[in-house]
Amino acid sequence: MIKKGIILAGGMGTRMSPLTKAVNKQLLPIYDKPLIFYPLSILLLAKIKDILIIVNKGQLDQYKKIIPNGNNLGVNISYLEQESPKGLPDAFILGKDFIGKDNVALILGDNFFYGQNLSKMLLNCSKLNEGAKVILHKVPNPELFGVAKINNLKKITSIKEKPKKFISDFAITGLYFFDNKVVKYAKQLRPSKRGELEITDLLKKYLSTSKLKAEQLGRGGAWLDTGSIEDFYKTSLFVSAIENRQGFKIACIEEIAYLNKWIGKKEMLKAIKFYGNCEYSNYLRKLIS
Ligand code: G1P
Repeated sequence: MIKKGIILAGGMGTRMSPLTKAVNKQLLPIYDKPLIFYPLSILLLAKIKDILIIVNKGQLDQYKKIIPNGNNLGVNISYLEQESPKGLPDAFILGKDFIGKDNVALILGDNFFYGQNLSKMLLNCSKLNEGAKVILHKVPNPELFGVAKINNLKKITSIKEKPKKFISDFAITGLYFFDNKVVKYAKQLRPSKRGELEITDLLKKYLSTSKLKAEQLGRGGAWLDTGSIEDFYKTSLFVSAIENRQGFKIACIEEIAYLNKWIGKKEMLKAIKFYGNCEYSNYLRKLIS
């Protein structure tokens, strides 16, 4: 079972400057809520109740204003500050005390997932006892991501970070599930040519012992990497289109906690008071009426 989850919300957000000069990227809006709500909702849907958010040095106070400690969601949320971004596997080195002896999921703070079978897939992934699991999604621009080549049995045969030459169009999305060996493996890594520890090098350790499994998000699912201003805008449009058409919200963290029965009406009323007179509060009010 995966009991712990890490959201890596560090990074300087340089590609989004000047928007990110004063505010952390993950606190900027994707339509009607801060970006951080989306990866957090993924961990909540996977029924992970012990969550660590890694943020940049100096940005903790901003985060605590919007997500103080998880009490409001019936979960435990703690924070760690990162001195400087050293690559994704650094999350396991920084988070080793938080992880302890447990298995752990990692989601990148700027990854957006949506799809009909998503909850089911996430619950399945969080059953992982041994090895590692990644979520693959077909993309038109695989050179921008870590990619996985799979055989006709849907098994991963090789992986490469940002391949210049085409090897596969299956991107490895920014959501990973690991057994406890991940801490030991992360410590063995050395920085790549771009000077960072690479998640694909970490995954290769599992691949070499045939312990790397994959799930596919499929055509009915959407994965958006909100790396640039253009992507932010497109993701906002996507959320707005779905929410306004269907009348329910994507990544309403209180709704997920309420449906998971981790919080009741009392906490929902508290949340309504906290957010104040706004459309998000109206939505919460409707859920409990
Ligand atoms: C990172 C990973 C890459 C993965 C991507 C998903 O890329 O290195 O393997 O496919 O996240 O968002 P980066 O954001 O560092 O370019």
